[in-house]
Amino acid sequence: MATLIKAFAAQFLGLALAILLASLAPGLLHGTVRLALLQATAAAACAYLLRQPPWWLPIHLLFLPTALALLSLQLPSGVYLAITLLLALVFWGTVKGDVPLFLSSSAAADAVARIIERENAENFADLGAGIGSLAIPLARCHPLLAIDAVELAPLPWLITALRCRKLANIQARRASFWHCGLNAYDVVFAFLSPAVMLKLSEKISRDMRSGSLFISSSFPIPDWQPESVITLADRRKTRLYCYRIT
Ligand SMILES: C[S@@+](CC[C@H](N)C(=O)[O-])C[C@H]1O[C@@H](n2cnc3c(N)ncnc32)[C@H](O)[C@@H]1O
Repeated sequence: MATLIKAFAAQFLGLALAILLASLAPGLLHGTVRLALLQATAAAACAYLLRQPPWWLPIHLLFLPTALALLSLQLPSGVYLAITLLLALVFWGTVKGDVPLFLSSSAAADAVARIIERENAENFADLGAGIGSLAIPLARCHPLLAIDAVELAPLPWLITALRCRKLANIQARRASFWHCGLNAYDVVFAFLSPAVMLKLSEKISRDMRSGSLFISSSFPIPDWQPESVITLADRRKTRLYCYRIT
């Protein structure tokens, strides 16, 4: 929730700064568009100073200019409500805890499938499963692997649940992974955000069995030594950090 408070603070500080500058230099900053651009720049700068993650900067830069552009279209007010609800349903994880929705590539799913084979794993969890981009191909590739796809955001969870309804070995659970035990799994996968890796490492140490494997896509755990790091040949050159639990 601190994330949202910082985002609102950055927007309001940006607005206050823009109004202040407009009153100090009325000739220079005359006009709604210039004022909106100034507010957007000031809001992004405030977000940086408030140490919001870098992906918030384009959101701050685009927020007011986009809102003004949409207002000029004079759309029915229900459209705004529908867009807001849709975004909230998809980006629930961002609002509640600093983790946006990005999708794993098929190369990541293939690489994890190979790890599962090598590990002889029977139970697997995807913490923050999104729309099942990794968990569903894995379920198809390993029909005997029992998979828990844990997702908090309502819409991605629903999409995963619908996509896996014909697969017997995968369960789409609508839950926060912070409230799930991890003791039952041979391999746990997460593709989250640097903001949560430290807290997650504490949960992993507490919950995961000795000998099991934790795979973090893209974001290493600070100060932990991975057993191996696999670099994939996908667009993002994704790295899979594999940690053996001792
Ligand atoms: C970067 S996406 C990864 C999606 C998927 N694992 C993949 O690899 O394609 C992270 C997902 O974690 C979800 N998420 C964030 N916090 C969560 C939480 N506390 N519990 C469950 N899911 C969460 C977000 O909603 C988002 O869908």
